[in-house]
Formats: sequence, C-alpha cells, structure tokens
Amino acid sequence: MAQLETKTKEKIEAKIHFPQGFLLGAASAAHQVEGDNINSDWWQAEQKGLVPKSGIAADHYHKFDEDFGIAEQIGLNAVRISIEWARIEPEEGRWDKDAIEHYKKVLKSMKDHGLTRMVTLWHWTLPRWLAEKGGFETKVGVEAFARYAWFVSQNLGKDIDLWLTLNEPEIYAGLSHQKGSHPPFKQNLLQTWMVIRNLIAAHKAAYKAIKRTLPNSKVGIAKNCSFYEPYRKNNFLDRTLAYLADSISNHYVLEKIQKQLDFIGINYYFHNKVKLNWRRGYEEMNKNFNKGQMQLSDQNSRSDMGWVLYPEGLHRLLRDLKKYKKPIYVTENGIADSVDNRRPKFLRDSLQAVSNAISDGANVRGYFYWALTDNYEWTEGFGPRFGLVEIDYATQTRKIRKSAEVMKEVQID
Ligand code: BGC
Repeated sequence: MAQLETKTKEKIEAKIHFPQGFLLGAASAAHQVEGDNINSDWWQAEQKGLVPKSGIAADHYHKFDEDFGIAEQIGLNAVRISIEWARIEPEEGRWDKDAIEHYKKVLKSMKDHGLTRMVTLWHWTLPRWLAEKGGFETKVGVEAFARYAWFVSQNLGKDIDLWLTLNEPEIYAGLSHQKGSHPPFKQNLLQTWMVIRNLIAAHKAAYKAIKRTLPNSKVGIAKNCSFYEPYRKNNFLDRTLAYLADSISNHYVLEKIQKQLDFIGINYYFHNKVKLNWRRGYEEMNKNFNKGQMQLSDQNSRSDMGWVLYPEGLHRLLRDLKKYKKPIYVTENGIADSVDNRRPKFLRDSLQAVSNAISDGANVRGYFYWALTDNYEWTEGFGPRFGLVEIDYATQTRKIRKSAEVMKEVQID
C-alpha cells in the first residue's frame, strides 16, 4: 500500500504544471499540410522541379476535422493553423468565396473540438500574382498584405482567438533572398535586408488593419529565436559575437514592432555556439553540421535534421523576453524524429523549460509543438517527421505516436 502511495505520488509529481488558462497546442502551416495550392509561388516552383512536390500533402484540406479530433483526443486545448493567402486572393483583388467558406468550416471544427484558435495569416507562401510583382521586395507587398489582413478580419475575424501576422520574417528573407533555396531563389544581401524591412512594415500595417475591424483582437507574430552562446565561454571575442547574434537575430524585429504587438510568439529550434573564425568571420555549429556524418554519439542529442536538441535554451530565451512585458506564446518548437525515440524526452524537457521560465517570472501563456501531424518540410519534402501524429502518405491514414502521450502528463491548474 505504502509502495502504491509513493508510486502515485511520484506520478503526480512527475506531472508538468501550468497555470490556469495555459494553452497546450500543436501547430501547422497551410501549404505544408494542405498542399494543392495551385495559385501560389511554391506550387509553381514545385511544377518547375525546383523544389519537391507537395501534392495534397497530409490532405488536411479534407481531413481537418479528423485532425482536430485527434488534437482533442491527445489532450490539446489549442491548435495553431495558417490560412492560405493564395486560396483567399487567387488573383489580385479577387476574393474567393469558397476559400472563405472552407476556412469558416475549419475554424468552426476547431471550436467544436474545444480548441483555442491561433491563426497565422502568412506562412511563407505568396499568391503567384504578388510573387510576380516582387512579393515583399517592395512596398507593393506591404500594401497587399494589409488589404488581405483587413479582408480576413472582416470575413473570418470573429472566429480567430489569437492572430499571428507573419511566420519567421528573417528566416523567410534568408532562405528566399539570401540563400536562394526557397522561391524566388534570389541571392542578394541588400534585397534580403529590404525584405526584412518590408516585413516589419507589413506586420505593422496588418496589425492596424485587424484592429480597425476588431479592436479587442489579440495580434502577435511568430518570431524565430535561437539560443546563442559563446563557443569559448571566457573568450571576449566569442562572447561579443554571441551577444551581437542574439541582439540582431532575436531582438531587432521585436524591438521595431513592439508597439504593434499584443503578445510575442516565438519559434525555437536552434542552439548555436558561435566563435570567431578568422577566415570566415563567424561560425555556427548547426550550419556546419553534415547530416551524412552524424556520429552514433550524436543520435540522442540531435534530431533527424541534425539539429542540436537543447530545451534549456528555450528557458533562457523566454526569460530574456520578459523585458518586453508582454504575454508570450511558444508558437513552434519541435523535433524531426521518424522513429519517435527522442521526442518523448524532448517534449518533457521542453515543457519543463517553459514551466521553469514561468517560475522565473516570464509571462508564458502557451506552448505549441511543431507539428500536429507529419507534413511537407519545404525543400526536404516528406522525409522529416515532425508530427505527434504519423501520416501514411500512401493511404492518408493517421496514427498517433507514442510521444503524444506526454501531452497527457501536463496538468493545467
Ligand atoms: C517553420 C516551419 C518548418 C519548421 C521545421 C519553422 O522554421 O516555421 O514551416 O516546418 O521550422 O523546419
């Protein structure tokens, strides 16, 4: 009996506690789960063979109700989705009624399953007509985005609980305009900078547009944040570099838009130890990692993408965000783990990191694991498996992964 009591006690103590109202969710993005996005720049690049084909991806377009049912079943109380601009405005100024009706059903289904609805307006894909006009390279993109945000606020706004204007502005700019691996495949540093500036302006304009329709709406952004550390702890140059990397990549955009933010959303994946490299200037360990050379010893500490797993970085980042004095949501954090052997620990440790940040006074209101289901991982195609739910792409059947059970260990007081 005494043994049983200790066991039960242990179990209760093992639970991760969050305050009342905490959102425990999972995330997705329209193009990555819906595919079939024929009026977008990504679809066009896929047809040209420049990136892998997405097809119908996880067929979430038709299976959304089943997916939200699973989210409810595994113990989530919130989901983050994105809506597809290229579906809603397939031609400039032409708003597609069917697309709006579709997303109304999606939002209703989320509500019926008891899920708080966090919606991203733009997760990297552009309507083709806008891409042809240069996307966010110029102010044309800013104006178009504000108009789109206003239209959505008018037509879907009352069913959106939490808004995210943009997903990871600098990552988009970097991949699409500097590295050149995503459409429009440019490699131009000055343009990358202009795109970031225009995305900042786009966020501000969209914020204003949404507020005009819905003054009480809660509008934020999904900002990429990485944890930087000096490679050599006591080396002055490495420390300076780590400080600069943190200030620029984590805080520059947030500082610019802080007056137009009701909350901060952060996407956390990367732990980077930075060091001065006399020839190349600056080095980050994730960038220099070659997946093909993954060592046995790496297998517990890296995801299938080769990314270093470091949940403590989330704790530290959340603590640093206290200075903005805004509610914070972790809008993405996840691991590609096709055999599901690292995900349970990763999830527990990440949730614990969030809980520790709350104990340290960070106003964290929710955690969204990336992703609810497996999905199309951009240039990596369908290889990486991020989902709490496994997708068999041949049959489009869903299977809940064992790691999803960790979500039930969470107790919201
Ligand atoms: C993006 C997602 C992507 C995930 C994993 C995030 O940066 O927002 O679209 O799937 O990382 O790579």
